Amino acid sequence: MTTAIDLAHISELYRTHRDDLARVRTHMRTHQHHTATTPRLDDLEAEITYLLLRHNTPATVLQIGTGHGWSTTWILHALHDNDTGHLHSFDTQDHTPHHIPHHLTGRWTFTHGDVRTRTDHIPTHTDHLFIDAAHHGLFARWYLHHLLPALPPGIPVSIHDVFHQRHALPFTEGAVVLKWLTTHTTSFFTASAARAPHHHQALTDLKKELGLTEPVRTGHRNPTIYFRLPHSATRRTTPTGAPTTRTR
Ligand SMILES: C[S@@+](CC[C@H](N)C(=O)[O-])C[C@H]1O[C@@H](n2cnc3c(N)ncnc32)[C@H](O)[C@@H]1O
Repeated sequence: MTTAIDLAHISELYRTHRDDLARVRTHMRTHQHHTATTPRLDDLEAEITYLLLRHNTPATVLQIGTGHGWSTTWILHALHDNDTGHLHSFDTQDHTPHHIPHHLTGRWTFTHGDVRTRTDHIPTHTDHLFIDAAHHGLFARWYLHHLLPALPPGIPVSIHDVFHQRHALPFTEGAVVLKWLTTHTTSFFTASAARAPHHHQALTDLKKELGLTEPVRTGHRNPTIYFRLPHSATRRTTPTGAPTTRTR
């Protein structure tokens, strides 16, 4: 039985991993100042990503869109702290490796190129999917129809840049994904200040109680959505068409 990704679960994870999270936040603050990294994830969504990875201890994480490596570094911190797991990342640009702390690269494989043309580099099994790449509907249709059906049901999925406002803008990646979630009667969690101010406030209050108040970065929008991949969206093949061998 997998745990629902909701406010109660995430609040529990903040309490469980408070000390490790405090240490990683300090590192990320320093990392930001000492490298040319442009942070893209806001603090709540980066921390939730870290906490879900700590809780689920995935063997394999798939990331599409690395940019300057901010989210990549957060993910690699979680795998480092788990002492297990490997991250496979894709980006059409090739500069990310210059921005990743050296001591974290042992758990990382980077593939340069459009993920849609590099599917032979996608691992045959994925336990956690993180997407922050192209934000148009066409790209969303590609991964909804060609990638997600090959992944194991129930794995955590996060998609960035959905709720900068209360509603996703028409024809965007977010709008396409939200419609798909409705079709698959699947709920999502977000800490978006615009979409779910009560979640945003509850987690902000909890962080204050736990002494995690000093910001890593200043953005407050937290537009990411998180959900578990619905059974109805999957078929048991790999992204290249071969049958999968493992289930979770
Ligand atoms: C917003 S940035 C990612 C930021 C990153 N998540 C972070 O936290 O710093 C989006 C990235 O997705 C990459 N991208 C866009 N379309 C892609 C595709 N089809 N395949 C692989 N990468 C892609 C872009 O090159 C860009 O670096």
